[in-house]
Amino acid sequence: MLGCPSHQLISLVLILLLIIVDQSSQESPLKSAVFLSPAFVLEPGSVSNKFYYNIGFPKGHIAIKNFDAEVVDEGGNPVPLYETYLHHWIVVRYYQQKGVKVTNYHNNLGFHQSDFILKRNSGICDGGLSQYFGLGSETRKTITYVPDPYGIEVGNPVEVPPGYEEKWLLNVHAIDTRGAEDRLGCTECRCDLYNVTKDEHDRVIEPDYIGGLRCCYDETKCRVKDGFQGPRRNLYLKYTVKYIDWEASIVPVKIYILDITDTWKKPEKSTTTVARHHCQIEYLVESCSSAVANVDCTHTKKIILTFPSGGDVIYGVAHQHTGGTGMALHGEDGHVICSSIPIYGEGKEPGNEAGYIVGMSSCYPRPGSIKISAGETVTLLSNYSNAQRHTGVMGLFYLLVAEPSPKPNSILHSTDETGEIVILQSAIGALAVFGIALVVGAAVIYQRRNQRDQEGYESILI
Ligand SMILES: *[C@@H]1O[C@H](CO)[C@@H](O)[C@H](O)[C@H]1NC(C)=O
Ligand SMILES: *[C@@H]1O[C@H](CO)[C@@H](O)[C@H](O)[C@H]1NC(C)=O
Repeated sequence: MLGCPSHQLISLVLILLLIIVDQSSQESPLKSAVFLSPAFVLEPGSVSNKFYYNIGFPKGHIAIKNFDAEVVDEGGNPVPLYETYLHHWIVVRYYQQKGVKVTNYHNNLGFHQSDFILKRNSGICDGGLSQYFGLGSETRKTITYVPDPYGIEVGNPVEVPPGYEEKWLLNVHAIDTRGAEDRLGCTECRCDLYNVTKDEHDRVIEPDYIGGLRCCYDETKCRVKDGFQGPRRNLYLKYTVKYIDWEASIVPVKIYILDITDTWKKPEKSTTTVARHHCQIEYLVESCSSAVANVDCTHTKKIILTFPSGGDVIYGVAHQHTGGTGMALHGEDGHVICSSIPIYGEGKEPGNEAGYIVGMSSCYPRPGSIKISAGETVTLLSNYSNAQRHTGVMGLFYLLVAEPSPKPNSILHSTDETGEIVILQSAIGALAVFGIALVVGAAVIYQRRNQRDQEGYESILI
């Protein structure tokens, strides 16, 4: 964001370090840091979908325990979803070459730009969904805490390529629906309401694409009621990171994001080709009057995937849009690994807006009780009510998985009768795999605004 007029806003970034001494078994105290994104400006009907590089983030080698966010106004007041719909926010980890200035905070960082290396999560989509954290309207009531003794390890200096430093970028996609003719239609990015025929990259939108991200890109406008007036205002994503300083007793977890639109097909046994996980990110739910559907008008989408590596499931949560009625992940023998159900608001106050998904239930299996084995065939289900049509819906599933010890002769932990993990020997996370993973990762960020070469476009959207 250096060199951008908005960079002064960095000075608005609040860094509150509240040191809270945790009374539990945790050795390090739980710390909490609160940050504000740069301001984004919205007026009735308008859309902001910008990328902010080098955002405020806790420094040092740490274990992230919690990541919460919400949209606030200039006064720090929470803004309700029926005014500013938070379509999504995502937080992406990357390495930036030291001494290289990013000249535009939402520019297009290219594949060939060697000063930028994306550090993806552990999978499993090929392109996109590379974020470490990210949610949408449900962010206020979704619990994200990583239980002890686990943590998301970041900032480990040995993982950073020489000459680079670790940084974070934030993408916020927000839609101002004050005065909207059709609030749900605006939040579902219905192309007719945005009056767009071409997408952000000037590609013609096919008539069968009724709604979704291609119609509600940055600076587009959704139709508002005739004569409706409302003030332009500066808004911020306020995010709170809770973390502890890294220590050997913390067990690192890997982040996986499964997508119900993954077009992956199990390769034939005879072939050695690696399956591609081409994730579409969004899909269309036709209404049950115009589609084959069951009596209660539930649209179920189901995919079968092979999980790449095994371990203990520590946490799980789904991401769905309005109309969603739940997602579930089943193991090979049919048992439920995690099921996550939307919480719909019932009132007016922020965090409880009627008709909106204001939270998703999350799973905390007793550590060691739910495992996924490497190569296990898992089934992912996403349900939506199709009493009416929904465009641009999503079905993501976040999982935190603790991998078993890499070295069989150095047992890192055992489970006692209470289910508590007893640490016998220090574990240094060998999470970093720079080579291929990062080259693939760098391809993913090759996207966004003013892109000339449409080949290889990949979205990193949630
Ligand atoms: C929709 O876009 C067309 C051309 O892009 C423009 O002529 C028309 O006035 C727009 N309609 C509305 C309602 O904004
Ligand atoms: C999804 O819908 C199917 C069919 O109605 C149902 O059997 C299943 O329990 C639902 N799952 C979730 C997670 O809502």
